[in-house]
Amino acid sequence: MYRIKYLGNLTKEINVPPDKSISHRAAIISSLCKGKTLIKPFLHSEDTLATVDCLEKLGVKTEEKGNSFTVDGAGMYFSRSEKVDLYARESGTTIRMLSGVLVAQKFPIEFRAAESLNKRPMDRIVNPLSQMGAEIEGKKQSNSLLNIETIISPPLSISPSPAGIKGGEFNLKIASAQVKSAIMLASLYADSQTIIREPYKSRDHTERMLKLFGADITVDGKEIICKPTKKLISPKELYVPSDFSSAAFFIVLGLILENTELTIKNVNINPSRCGLLKVLKEMGANIKITNEKDGYEPYADIIVKSSYLRGAVVEPDEVPSMIDEIPALCVAASFATGRTLIQGISELKVKETNRIDSISKNLATAGVKVEVDSDNEMMIEGTREHKPSHFMSFGDHRTAMSAIILGAVIGNNCTIDDTQSIKKSFPQFISLFESL
Ligand code: S3P
Repeated sequence: MYRIKYLGNLTKEINVPPDKSISHRAAIISSLCKGKTLIKPFLHSEDTLATVDCLEKLGVKTEEKGNSFTVDGAGMYFSRSEKVDLYARESGTTIRMLSGVLVAQKFPIEFRAAESLNKRPMDRIVNPLSQMGAEIEGKKQSNSLLNIETIISPPLSISPSPAGIKGGEFNLKIASAQVKSAIMLASLYADSQTIIREPYKSRDHTERMLKLFGADITVDGKEIICKPTKKLISPKELYVPSDFSSAAFFIVLGLILENTELTIKNVNINPSRCGLLKVLKEMGANIKITNEKDGYEPYADIIVKSSYLRGAVVEPDEVPSMIDEIPALCVAASFATGRTLIQGISELKVKETNRIDSISKNLATAGVKVEVDSDNEMMIEGTREHKPSHFMSFGDHRTAMSAIILGAVIGNNCTIDDTQSIKKSFPQFISLFESL
C-alpha cells in the first residue's frame, strides 16, 4: 500500500521520461537498418525493455549506456533460421507492432505474453496481416467486453509466408496506432503498395519515423499510402522528446492544485497525441506552450497554472488523440464546475485493464458522481467535496498515476493498493511526485 502525499503551493520545473511510443518505434525501426543508431534519450521501462529483449532474441545487438541506447541493426531481415521464442511481457505495442515485421521474416516465431496481455484482442492485427498473406495465428478465447463471442489473443504463432506479403487496401474500423503501425511495417515487405484509411486519426509516430528512415510513405488526412521499401537508412542519431502521456498527469496536477505553476520541459507536442490540451483549454485551463522546437517530432515546454475548470464535451473523433490521457482528464473533470461528457470510449475497455471500470470505481470511491451508459459515454459531475479514499490500481499504470494525482489534491488520508504497474511507462513517477 502507498500513502499519497498531499500537495499544494508548488512552483517547479520538471522533466518526465522519454516518449514510450517513440522509443518502441525507434528501437524497432533502427533494428531494420544496417549499422548503428544512437537513440538518446531512450525510455527505460518495463514495456520498452520488452521490445529490446525481443530484438536481442532476433539477433539485433543493442547497448544501453546511461539514458542513451544504441541499436546495431540487422537490415530488413533478421539473421535467424531456427524457431525464435519471444516474450512481449505486458506490452501491447511490442507484440502488435513487431508482428508486422515478423510476418515477413524467413523463420518461425512463437510470440508469448504475460497474463494481462493474454486477455487483450489481437484479431485487429491477425486479420489484416493474414489478408496481406501472413501466416499468423493466435489463441481463440471468449471475451464479453467487446460484444463479440471470441477474440484472438496471444500467444501468436507466426510462420514464413509461403507466397510473400501482399499489398492491399484497409479501411480500419477502429482508430488504433498499433494496428496501423503493424500494417505499415508489413507493407515495407509487400509486393505492391498498401493503402490504410483510419476512421479517426490516431498517433502518427510510425509515419513520421519511417519517413525519417527513408521509407516512401504519403499521408493525406486519414489516408496513408505505403510503398514497399528494400532498405531503410538510419539517421544515425535520434532524439526522443518527453512523453506527453506521462506529462499529462503533471499537467492536470498543476491545474487542480492551489497556487501552483508547473513547467514540464521538452514534451512531445505532436498534434495527433495532444488532444488533451485542446479539451483542457476549452475547460478554462491556464496552459502555455513555449520554446517550441521542430524536428521529425515537435516538442516544447508546457507551463500550467492553477485554474478553475468547467465541464466540457469530448466527441468520439477527439478520443484517439487523447486515448491514454482519459484517466487524467477524468480527474480534471472531477474538479470542474458542471458536467463533463466523454463520448466514444469503448477502446478504454481493452487497455491494461478495463479503464472505464477502473476510473469510475476510483472516482466513485472519492464521492464523485460518474455515469457510464451503453453507448460508451461517460459523464462526470465535478465537485469540490472529494472524500479521502483508498484507491485501486487494478494493475494498470495509468489508473494508478491518475489515482495518485487525485489523492494528492484530496488530502493526506488517501492511499492506493499498489504502485508496481507504474514501471510499465514511468519508473521515476513516485520519486518525481515525492520530490514535489
Ligand atoms: C500506442 C497506441 C495506443 C495507446 C498505447 C500506445 C502506440 O494503443 O493506447 O498506449 O504506441 O502505438 P491503440 O493502438 O490500441 O489505440
